[in-house]
Amino acid sequence: MTGAADIPRRRFDTLVIGAGGGGLRAALQLSQDEATVAVVSKVFPTRSHTVAAQGGMNAALGNVVPDNWHWHMYDTVKGSDYLGDQDAIEYMCRAAARLVVEMEHAGVPFSRLENGKIYQRPFGGQSQNFGGAQASRTCAAADRTGHAILHALYQQNLRAQTHFFDEFFAIDLIKDDEGHILGALVLEIETGEPLVIEAKTTLLATGGVGQLFRNNTNARINTGDGMGMALRAGIPLEDMEFFQFHPTGIAGKGMLITEGGRGEGGYLVNKDGARFMERYAPKAKDLASRDVVSRAIATEVREGRGCGSGGDYVLLDLTHLGAEVVKKRLPGIREMCLTFLHLDPIDKPIPVFPTAHYTMGGVPTNRYGEVVTLGEDGSEEAVPGLYAAGECACVSVHGANRLGGNSLLDIVVFGRAAGNRIIDYLKSHRYHRPLPLSGVEQAVTRLQRWEQVGEGESVGALKAELQRTMEHYCGVFRTEEVLAEGLKKVQELEQRLAHARLKDHSKVFNTARIEALELENLMDVALATVSSALARQESRGAHTRIDHAERDDEHWLKHSLYFKGGRLDYKPVRLQPLTVESFPPKPRVY
Ligand code: FUM
Repeated sequence: MTGAADIPRRRFDTLVIGAGGGGLRAALQLSQDEATVAVVSKVFPTRSHTVAAQGGMNAALGNVVPDNWHWHMYDTVKGSDYLGDQDAIEYMCRAAARLVVEMEHAGVPFSRLENGKIYQRPFGGQSQNFGGAQASRTCAAADRTGHAILHALYQQNLRAQTHFFDEFFAIDLIKDDEGHILGALVLEIETGEPLVIEAKTTLLATGGVGQLFRNNTNARINTGDGMGMALRAGIPLEDMEFFQFHPTGIAGKGMLITEGGRGEGGYLVNKDGARFMERYAPKAKDLASRDVVSRAIATEVREGRGCGSGGDYVLLDLTHLGAEVVKKRLPGIREMCLTFLHLDPIDKPIPVFPTAHYTMGGVPTNRYGEVVTLGEDGSEEAVPGLYAAGECACVSVHGANRLGGNSLLDIVVFGRAAGNRIIDYLKSHRYHRPLPLSGVEQAVTRLQRWEQVGEGESVGALKAELQRTMEHYCGVFRTEEVLAEGLKKVQELEQRLAHARLKDHSKVFNTARIEALELENLMDVALATVSSALARQESRGAHTRIDHAERDDEHWLKHSLYFKGGRLDYKPVRLQPLTVESFPPKPRVY
């Protein structure tokens, strides 16, 4: 293996790690400003997980019913169970309309209304007039909105001459003694050769960590790589206990059936054919927010009203919508049902159960995309040279529970914001800082660890055990006892991973090596998730503690910060918006 001094180097103004919507929107901003930008992606960019986002992107365009950004802001704060930072939420909701138009002009083929305007569908947790009638705020390209956005952004980046490193895996950030981030060590998957990418600024845009759980809607690549890198660089992870379970995953398999199904008028029924959401959310019913609907489905199943021989799912009924609506608005999920269930949702209801979907927590940032940590005196301070955007970041606009349709919005709003902030930084930081070899050596050591030969457990088996453990001990419903047991099990798995070995040490396209490095990231993020969940003694948003059933604003209206090694700290929620009155916490009913 090459020593740190012999590893080839490339230099750019900015290194973007991850080629989903957040990374590509930031890269575009920078390339258009004539910064030199390297985008490193472990898959070909258009295979990034943004491609899988189905339902749409929220913006208060008011194309279907009256709407405005302030109502969107209210819904997002309420959806977050008041844990979202209201300055960032205001910023996002105000920017939304402009960014949908920007995406349209970049080439996103949004579906259309009869009058030619962008089609908007109702989604969960949306209201008019601060909790009034259902809003229709989700701008959709049928049920393939993420696919359309990712392809448009990729093409725009090609035009802007962004430099892509396709199928390169980021090993670790490189940091100097003063704490500046100076780029990363990456590995070319095709050749197995390392490369140092030096950069004045580095943006983490590596997506979420759905692979923590066995049943999930996420791509296999969503292994929390940016979060792992941040932890190893001494940066905490924020609010990791809040993991979103999407109500409608294909039962037993986990693939996403878009909330757009319910937005178009579909509804959930139990084994008696009853529309049970009326009991849990009398007003919003099937379009209550995701945490509410997921808990309702899990409760129906626990109380014996589930469908099928195992009684372990409920049904999503779209049959009354008619063939035309399903074919026009939901073609992707129809195709998925035909392929994986041999069932046509035009004729038959779909078996569904909550599935791990979205990481609300992540690398802490402010609303400019700067990564922030806690300084010596406990105040928030920026990590020089480091930025984050998209699902790997925690701004925090989603707080304890994200609203459907706010994820595609988040990635373009904060990808752009980070791009703008980096442009400002580059204006006053014209030269690369010297890159100390010690910063590279640490990353090389991580890589070399997998060259050890001998007997050891397999990475694949450990990953499967971790996913089962997380599903069992850190799922929709939690208790102290179960979480404590879960933490012990993940700690044991961490120990076992330290003794795991690769059988294949070849260099060319050695995906086993990549999976081992990914599992190390998953393990760190699992520890952050279970530890934060165990500590938080309340129920808020997606974090449901049976033993602490109420939200406790007096003690827990604060963000968790988990540091590698297990230390937990907290910081206040930013309740003050930019220009409007704060929405103070109140009971959350739908
Ligand atoms: O249900 C969905 O289409 C998912 C959308 C989202 O997570 O924003």
